[in-house]
Amino acid sequence: MKKILFAASEGNPFIKTGGLADVVGALPKYLNRKKFDVRVILPKYLCIPEEDRKKLSHVTEFYADMPRGREYIGIDKFKVEGITYYFIDNEHYFAGDSPYNEIYEDVNKFAFYSRAVLACLPKIKFCPDIIHCHDWQAALIPVFLKEFYAKDSFYKNTGTVLTIHNQKFQGRWRIDDIENCRDLPADCRYKAMEAYHETNFLKAGILYADRVTTVSETYAEEIKTTAGGEGLDGVMCEMSGRLLGIVNGIDNEEYNPMTDPALSAPFGVKNISGKKKNKKALQKELGLRQDDSAMLIGIVSRLTEQKGFDLVNRIMEEMLNSMNVQVAVLGTGEDRFQESFQYFDWKYGGRVSVTIGYQEELAHKIYGGADAFLMPSQFEPCGLSQLISMRYGTVPIVRETGGLKDTVEPYNEIWQTGTGFSFANYNANEMLMIIRYAYDVFRNHPKEWLKMMKRCMKADHSWQQSAGKYEQMYLDLLG
Ligand code: ADP
Ligand code: GLC
Repeated sequence: MKKILFAASEGNPFIKTGGLADVVGALPKYLNRKKFDVRVILPKYLCIPEEDRKKLSHVTEFYADMPRGREYIGIDKFKVEGITYYFIDNEHYFAGDSPYNEIYEDVNKFAFYSRAVLACLPKIKFCPDIIHCHDWQAALIPVFLKEFYAKDSFYKNTGTVLTIHNQKFQGRWRIDDIENCRDLPADCRYKAMEAYHETNFLKAGILYADRVTTVSETYAEEIKTTAGGEGLDGVMCEMSGRLLGIVNGIDNEEYNPMTDPALSAPFGVKNISGKKKNKKALQKELGLRQDDSAMLIGIVSRLTEQKGFDLVNRIMEEMLNSMNVQVAVLGTGEDRFQESFQYFDWKYGGRVSVTIGYQEELAHKIYGGADAFLMPSQFEPCGLSQLISMRYGTVPIVRETGGLKDTVEPYNEIWQTGTGFSFANYNANEMLMIIRYAYDVFRNHPKEWLKMMKRCMKADHSWQQSAGKYEQMYLDLLG
């Protein structure tokens, strides 16, 4: 039995701001449990709902030497669906009403987290064969492991994997101002960890981890280019022999239109009529006109530049004025996008509904009730929202980038194939054209639309296949 520890800054069902939590919450369940003992370690944020924090059982606590002096580390645990979750407790670092705060605090916080992970494993007597680190927040684990524990017999057989969920976020800050990195050797701090005169956690992790993966094959190629590398393309090219793209899946149990308690009627490929009821209920709840002939477009997203909302802003009026579409938006993020969407909500009440915030249940209702799902990302490492919407028979309209390109097969009206609509260039008119095309199929070729909905629902985006690829990668690494 190989032991794998997932180290990450968020994980379902405890703390989630985006797709990382979905992956960390689902993938461990889908790895072969006869061959792998997979556990997860997260920070115990004070913003985890109190009722969840109360459920955790205390394992141990101790003090560890760190640059600030002796620091408290508490360890709690909880089992979900057979997977053990550990939580690192330290209220100095993990306070605040969100897992992420100002970057200068976050770099220090996650450097502490990474050190605490390594300090606690001998105490809880869990010696992983592989520590699987996710994103920049856990990227220093391979660094501390090699720099501080090279001669430690406990860790002599422990390898590391780093998965990049988004290369844009790198954990960068002034080299001399990160207290919890201060005792690393100068060679490491000023060379391996340095990029563009700053400390760069992601770059350090990429150089120190035994294997690096990212969340789709296309994104694995894009991050080697100047356009997609976010400044680290040179590093990615150099280490491309250790880089692997494995596309994300979704948790088919959590996202299941037949059993989803958030929906007003269950539905599936064989009894798709329930979907109409969900559309009606969603329109009612959001104050949209009860009009079945309108194409209801859903958006559930972080409202950031990455997700392509400047394109949506540009065509919103033209789209609403030239087609019978409705738009249901759920998201939170940058003020400029929140405000422009709120403006459209005000101006086109009854046809546009915008909810600013993070609401799991409403997200499910939008996936369940919308006809189409719009995701015109500038870049998208993988994207889970398009996979979830397909599972709910909601046809995705996406830009061909990263994981969107790998998971949405463009509609072909001759062959009657495809699971969505896609456009190539980051251009508002191109996007509008493809929305018009989708609208034409929706309005004028309902039978074809229905077939496409069914193809979406039948497409297999479960974790099964990709979990096998992770298993293979672990075994290759362990030799
Ligand atoms: P990213 O991780 O870049 O934000 P993904 O598509 O990989 O994008 O994953 C986003 C996840 O977060 C999906 O599960 C989506 O449903 C969820 N999500 C995003 N915004 C919200 C929101 N405002 N309310 C509820 N869920 C949201
Ligand atoms: C990141 C990416 C998203 C991906 C998710 C999970 O948040 O932006 O594309 O699906 O991580 O890997």
